[in-house]
This record gives sequence, C-alpha cells and structure tokens, in this order.
Amino acid sequence: MTRADAWTTFDRTAAETARTRIVDQFAADPDRLTRMSVEAAGLYLDLSKQSWTREAFDACLDLARASDVEGRRAALFAGEAVNLTEGRAVLHPALRAPVGADFKALGEPVSAEVDAVRAEMKTYAEAVRAGAEAGATGKRFEAIVHVGIGGSDLGPRVIWDALRPLDPAIDLRFVANIDPRDMAEALTGLDPETTLVVVVSKTFTTQETLANAEAAKAWLAAALPADGMTRHFIGVTAAPDKAAQFGCGRTFAFRDWVGGRYSLWSAVSLSCAIALGWDVFQGLLDGASAMDDHFASAPLEKNAPVLLALAQVFNVDGLNRPARTVAPYAHALRRLPSFLQQLEMESNGKRVHRDGTPVTRQTCPVVFGEPGTNGQHAFFQQIHQGPQVVPAEFVIVARTHEDAPESPSESPLWSNALAQGQALMVGKTTEAAKAEGLAQGLSEEEATRLSTHRTFTGDRPSTAIVMDRLTPQALGALIALYEHKTFVEGLIWDINSFDQWGVELGKVLAKAILKDVHAGGPSADLDPSTAALMTRLMN
Ligand code: F6P
Repeated sequence: MTRADAWTTFDRTAAETARTRIVDQFAADPDRLTRMSVEAAGLYLDLSKQSWTREAFDACLDLARASDVEGRRAALFAGEAVNLTEGRAVLHPALRAPVGADFKALGEPVSAEVDAVRAEMKTYAEAVRAGAEAGATGKRFEAIVHVGIGGSDLGPRVIWDALRPLDPAIDLRFVANIDPRDMAEALTGLDPETTLVVVVSKTFTTQETLANAEAAKAWLAAALPADGMTRHFIGVTAAPDKAAQFGCGRTFAFRDWVGGRYSLWSAVSLSCAIALGWDVFQGLLDGASAMDDHFASAPLEKNAPVLLALAQVFNVDGLNRPARTVAPYAHALRRLPSFLQQLEMESNGKRVHRDGTPVTRQTCPVVFGEPGTNGQHAFFQQIHQGPQVVPAEFVIVARTHEDAPESPSESPLWSNALAQGQALMVGKTTEAAKAEGLAQGLSEEEATRLSTHRTFTGDRPSTAIVMDRLTPQALGALIALYEHKTFVEGLIWDINSFDQWGVELGKVLAKAILKDVHAGGPSADLDPSTAALMTRLMN
C-alpha cells in the first residue's frame, strides 16, 4: 500500500470514527481491550479508550507500514544518518545497551567508547559518594549543583524527582534559567567547600549555561584555594575542548550522535548517578534497554511506542485534536510533562518534510500537563466540558513510594486516574443530570435549568500507562517509550525528529538585542514595537 493510499483510508476511517462513540465500540468489537492493550518492559498500556474503531486502528497500522516504520526503525538502530539535516546518527539506545554491545554510528563502532565513559562515570560517582573524591579542603561533597538547560536539564530533573530519597546524603540542585534568581535559590544554604558544580552542555556554547557556570565558578573561587577549585567544577559535554578552556577540572564526554533531549542516558545524568547511587542509574539504563528490545522486535500491532504514536497521529490528523494532556498520577513524576514538552515539541514541532517540502497535515500537538490529582482541580474542567476535545494520557503507578512492599494497592491516586478516564469516556446525559438534580431535591424547573450545565458529552479519549512501582527500571522504560513514540510519529509525518532549527533565530536575535542595549539603544532597523519595549526596559 502506498502512503497516499494509507492516508486516504486513514481519513475515511477517521471520519467514520467521528460518527461512533468509544463506549459503544467495546460491544461492537469484543476483543477491543486485548487488541488495543499491550505489555512492554514492565509497563501496561491500555489504548482501548481511544476514539478509533477497529477499522481505524487497522488503518493506522497500515499507515505505519506504508511509512516503513520497520525499515526506518532498523536504520536508527543501525546508526545510519537518521538526522539527515545534520548528517548524524541517532543512537541514544547505544547509551543504555548492556556492556559489550556493538552499535555503530555511520559505520564507526561506538559501544567500546560508551562502555569506557560509563565505567569512568561509575568510578567517579562511587568515589564522590564514598568521600574518596573530595573537595579542595578535603571535605566530602554534600551537594551538587547541576547547571544546564533544555535537554541538559529536564531529563536529570525528572530522574532526581522520581527516584530521590527524602533525605539524601548528597543533595542535588538544578540551575537552568539565566535569571540570577535561579542560581541564588540553588546556592542558598550551600557551602562551597562541600559543593560540586557539574556544568552540562552538549555544545558548551549555550548562553544561559555559560552565564550560570561563570556565576558558579565565581562563587567557588571566592571561597576555595585556587589550586583546588577545579575539583569542584566539572563538565559534561560533546565539546570537551571548550569545557577545558572554560576551566572545568574534569570532563565527561558524549558524542554528537546523542541529541540533547535524548541525552539523559549519558554523562548528562552524572549528577543523578552520584546523588542516587550507581545501581539506581544502572537500573534506569536497564529499563530503557528493555524498552529498546521491545521496540526493535515487537510486531507493529503489539508495539507499545508504535501504538502510542498512532493514537496521537489519529487524534491530531484524523480528528483534528491538536493538544494532549499528560497527567502522571504520582507526585514523583511531576516533572514528566515538562520533559515531554521538550521531547515531543522540539522533536516534532516541524513544518517541512524530510525533503524540505511543506507539510500538508498537522504535526506535533501542544503537550501540557500537571500531576494528578492537582490537574483535576485546575484545567480538567476544560478537558471534560470544553468544546475542544483534548486527549488525555494517564500515567498510573499502582504502589507509591510510601506504600509498604506487600501492602495492597488501593491508592486514592490511581482510583482518581481511573475515574477520570471513565468520566471522559462515558460522560453524563442531560436526562441523567436532570434526574440527579431531582433526586437531590431540586424543583423540576431548577433541575431542568441546571441539567445542561451538569451534562458531560463523554466520548473523550484517554490512554492509561500503568506501572507497578516507580522503580528506576520502570522510569527508564517509560522515558524510552516516549522517545520511541516521538520517533515513530516523526516517521509517519515524514519529518526529521532530531534537529531543532526553530530555536536558533531567537538565540541570534537575543544577542543582537543585547548588542543594541550595550550600544545605548535600539538600532534604526528594529521594528517599532521591539524598539519601544527596549527603550522602556532600559529606562
Ligand atoms: O535551545 C535548544 C537547545 O539547543 C536544546 O536542543 C538543548 O537541549 C538545549 O538547547 C541545551 O543545549 P546544550 O546542551 O548544548 O547547552
């Protein structure tokens, strides 16, 4: 089947789907739940509450086949130049593969180097934890300040929040924003003698990170002997020369075939490996590697990243639903929506195909979210009753960190997640709303008047992603699931998910604006609005 034919069938079945209700699909297709659910690397995904009919589901799979998902998946794992605008391989799976794997980037073997850096990280992390690698004055490190932004920040933050002990032996703080307040907050209460600063930047050219790194260096230098200061100031980068030039005492490297937003499996998470301990970091890698194995080998119809991607493509392109909310029902996963915003929107917020021609369909939706149950008391009103349908994704953890190992799983957290999915799908008719009002003692007139306000149309889609516990392995599998899902969407939309030219223009203009400011005011060619804002802000 050609892609054009596959898209035609996709559109036809999407139009048919729009005339059915999700809840009725279960009777129409008794195997729906089995067909549309999948187990992968310790996660369970239920996509049966999505809008698709069985025919539409099959049409989505045909679209994936026609888009050569299998062939291009193989190309990614084979280290071909999948990132074709930058001529780079895309090999984050190599970073979490077991020792002794045999990945090649553009034909060059890379696994030995990955193993070597990992071993170096482990030795360093364990030495810091043991106090063998200590500060300039001989004191153990008690805190780490992780300086980085975007992909050099969001992934490690998710890991730390998800897996951190309540009272860690080594505290970990993050600084991303160029606003000095961010650094000031992070340094509050810390002692330079017991603080390790880890500067993380793939390029080592990022304005925010370099400014923050300078500030951290000055903070250390003011309190420490000059000859020992570099023990407190280390770099993680794909540009080791730049890090050394900047003054980093030691550098952990990764390569340009690791995209920034896919880099948390590398030394980018060194701070987490130190503060959480190596076994935790290794568990994370193992979970992701298990998801890699699943993605690489499972047939498309039972492939978790593929099905998750297809649900999104179907919502966005088939049913014109250009937003998706993600609600992790675990406080420890509260950073997941921010991480996914970069992963998905920086990867797939694209307007041209791989060959440079404009896209004719939608690509990445707006992704947003808050942890459950907080989101329920904020924007879920719109998700239930707003005129636009916003598909929801519930990440559900059966047993929280606080539950004892053998305790029955009966958390009000996941009860709420299930209730939201059910309410979105089933809804409440106006008749039922009126009957409810009458049962509550309202007059006939009042019950009728309120009934439309209390009506839920239902038929709103959601996906459930379930794990038993938020272990390092489950977290690794979850993040890798989203990475591969993002890649598959890019294949179906025929875009390059691994470049990010869209962030460049703003960076260039920010420098030009600052140059104007230093020169005393707006240059003549600046537009009137920006010039007026600059003048106002300068005075
Ligand atoms: O501005 C976007 C971006 O380039 C991201 O893609 C990247 O994750 C982030 O900046 C940080 O870049 P670096 O790791 O090179 O400092």
